[in-house]
Amino acid sequence: MSQSLKTNTDLREEILELKKKRNAVILAHNYQIPEIQDIADYVGDSLGLAFRAQETDADVIAFCGVHFMAETAKIINPEKTVVLPDANAGCSLEESCPADKLEAFLKANEEKNYYVITYINSSAAVKALSDVICTSGNAVRIVEAAPKDRPILFAPDQNLGEWVSRQTGREMDFWEGNCYLHVEFTRESIAKIKEEYPDAAVVAHPECTKAVRLLADEVCSTEKMVHFCQESESKNIIVVTEAGMLHRLRKECPDKNLIAGPTDHCACAECRFMKMNTLEKLYQCLKDLKPEVTLDEELRKKAEAPIQRMLDLSADAPASDLVRYSWDQEFLALFDKCLKKYRDGNEDFTTYYTDGDLNFLNSIGYREREFFDFVEDYADYGDPAPETALLVAAARRDYFLYKMGGKPSGEKDLNPADLPAKTAELEGIVWLPRILAKARGKLKGELDPEIMFCCGGDRKFLSTHDISPADFLRTVWSAEASDDPDMTMAKFVKAVSKA
Ligand code: 13P
Ligand code: SF4
Repeated sequence: MSQSLKTNTDLREEILELKKKRNAVILAHNYQIPEIQDIADYVGDSLGLAFRAQETDADVIAFCGVHFMAETAKIINPEKTVVLPDANAGCSLEESCPADKLEAFLKANEEKNYYVITYINSSAAVKALSDVICTSGNAVRIVEAAPKDRPILFAPDQNLGEWVSRQTGREMDFWEGNCYLHVEFTRESIAKIKEEYPDAAVVAHPECTKAVRLLADEVCSTEKMVHFCQESESKNIIVVTEAGMLHRLRKECPDKNLIAGPTDHCACAECRFMKMNTLEKLYQCLKDLKPEVTLDEELRKKAEAPIQRMLDLSADAPASDLVRYSWDQEFLALFDKCLKKYRDGNEDFTTYYTDGDLNFLNSIGYREREFFDFVEDYADYGDPAPETALLVAAARRDYFLYKMGGKPSGEKDLNPADLPAKTAELEGIVWLPRILAKARGKLKGELDPEIMFCCGGDRKFLSTHDISPADFLRTVWSAEASDDPDMTMAKFVKAVSKA
């Protein structure tokens, strides 16, 4: 055992060295073996991986997933070298829809003028015959954006298709394909494990059959499973998808008891294709730059258009769908959740948070109302954006954790009556005394709930002087070390101001 551990350690080091030498990025799907997930630069679902593949400036993409995923990365990155550890890592969904059969079907039904929505689990040739691609993470959004006057053909996963049709109320015709693995979960196998854990929540992938989906509290993509488990009030959660998902979930939700959904004949389910990749093969493919994904240019271009359509339609997906790891993801997920509650008409923010949410807010030095103020202003005025709220919270969090040692100051809050007047000036700069007092209170967590740093008046000041709210906070922090923090801030504003 120590021998294999040593081998893995050596391999890891050699992979990291090769990665540097090749200027490579390692992308891994949530179903990959733990050793691969742990060494990857990004681990996620098909949608997140497609975005990461599009954004990367690496020369080489080592794609640890199945072939269609690596092929998708190549389609949108023709100039990059895309390798995958095992070229035989296919997918039963891809196999269930050969391009020639789909082409023949579309020809035979030409008069229907189908709008073809194809699941990303398909070959480049099938993608090239499609109007738009979707993943399980954005299928609802893609179907909702489909032209209303054309019938939809959804290929190749009938189960995902049925689920999305139910979610959107949109009728569609289905290609009869499925994932060999996800259909192995049965109503009986899931009901049985539920009997063992009667209080457990159940989260299932939409590739499962309807009978299984009906037993689930949530049906979603693998990435959204992370948010579901983080937010769920249940300690026990049954996860009905490929077993590799459990590794990611256990890292991201250490306080939960995550139980692999069983099939009728197995305690968990592993995709034989996903599990073809190993650390050794990853090392080898980075070393030899083989197996490499290559594509005929004409086919690539045809397949690129529907993928790009999907990426464009998903570009403003909730931010929490697209980022991963730790507190920033949790912050944005909580932002999305509260925004939804507010938009649904619930204005009582005190009902928004679970105990877990409150613990999270405490851990970054935030209060309930302070967080809500940003949600409310975004919902009402579209400003500050969630990304700005995140950066502001990051400044406060860093100050709280590093400067204050993670402990509240114990000082009295700054009250609205204590604030400098709106007309007060410092070095001729109106509003500066007021926002400075608020910024200091914000950093230290000493603001009365009635005061919001980055309210409409602050935003006007900041945009007039072209300073982002988080930059302002961080400069206030560093100015603390100067002899005259007020004068330092006045100098800073004058230096950067475009007013
Ligand atoms: P996700 O996009 O949800 O990760 O699903 C991919 C997949 O292949 C599921 O079997
Ligand atoms: Fe394909 Fe199913 Fe494996 Fe996903 S789990 S890659 S859909 S065979």
